Amino acid sequence: MNSDTPSLRLDSLPRHIAIIMDGNGRWAKKRSLNRIKGHREGAESVRDIVRVCREIGIEVLTLYAFSTENWQRPRPEVSALMSLLKGFLRSEAAEMMENGIRLSAIGQIERFPGDVVKVLRDIIDMTRKNQGMILNLALSYGGRDEIVTAACKIAADVRAGRLQIEEITEEVFSNYLYTQGLPEPDLLIRTSGEMRISNFLLWQIAYTEICVTHTLWPDFRREELIRILQDYQKRERRFGMTGAQIKKAPRRQ
Ligand code: FPP
Repeated sequence: MNSDTPSLRLDSLPRHIAIIMDGNGRWAKKRSLNRIKGHREGAESVRDIVRVCREIGIEVLTLYAFSTENWQRPRPEVSALMSLLKGFLRSEAAEMMENGIRLSAIGQIERFPGDVVKVLRDIIDMTRKNQGMILNLALSYGGRDEIVTAACKIAADVRAGRLQIEEITEEVFSNYLYTQGLPEPDLLIRTSGEMRISNFLLWQIAYTEICVTHTLWPDFRREELIRILQDYQKRERRFGMTGAQIKKAPRRQ
């Protein structure tokens, strides 16, 4: 770790950080630039934040890169985001291997153009044995879609006799979500100041700590993440229990 992170305790970091990367368009507008320039600079923040998370030992980093609603944006912006994603994946593949990063993706991946899906699947496959950190990209992702998709899969399994209705618990339900097998996010960060969840990880964030910063995503870099983590370490997570109970059994997951 760098010398600029002295007071971060490595034994009580979030296992899973999820980020709503917002504000690329506003960043560009403030500079009289095209929105796409904002997304390009946003990709630089992605590089920086992935590096720092890997370096300090975060297990899972989930980034909201494209929502189900983002398909409604002007076509040139959608295609620019597609090619930015493809370029990012290609340019980062070697570093992911070097740093033991495993790529994964959640969402309706099949809606993406074939060439993007191919690069994505190739890198997911290439990095599948890496053990350092999971970089989980939410792509054409929507929390409601995820829940409805899970309900349909459950219904199909019940109809086929593979699952009994009485067996459906919260844990079983979780295993039908895109995030199956991942720990729930401990910390959700949203940049650019909006106080909303925007259909992100609706099921998974039931007990997640939330941090909203006014910084626009392209300006969000290492130093601010470290400050947010320091703040996170001061919070008491109670999961509906009392403070005294939590002191006896501090960790839930
Ligand atoms: C929200 O900003 C951001 C997005 C819809 C896309 C996120 C994409 C990136 C950060 C870059 C590429 C990603 C990867 C993984 C390489 P906005 O456009 O809604 O900003 P605004 O609210 O200011 O208009």
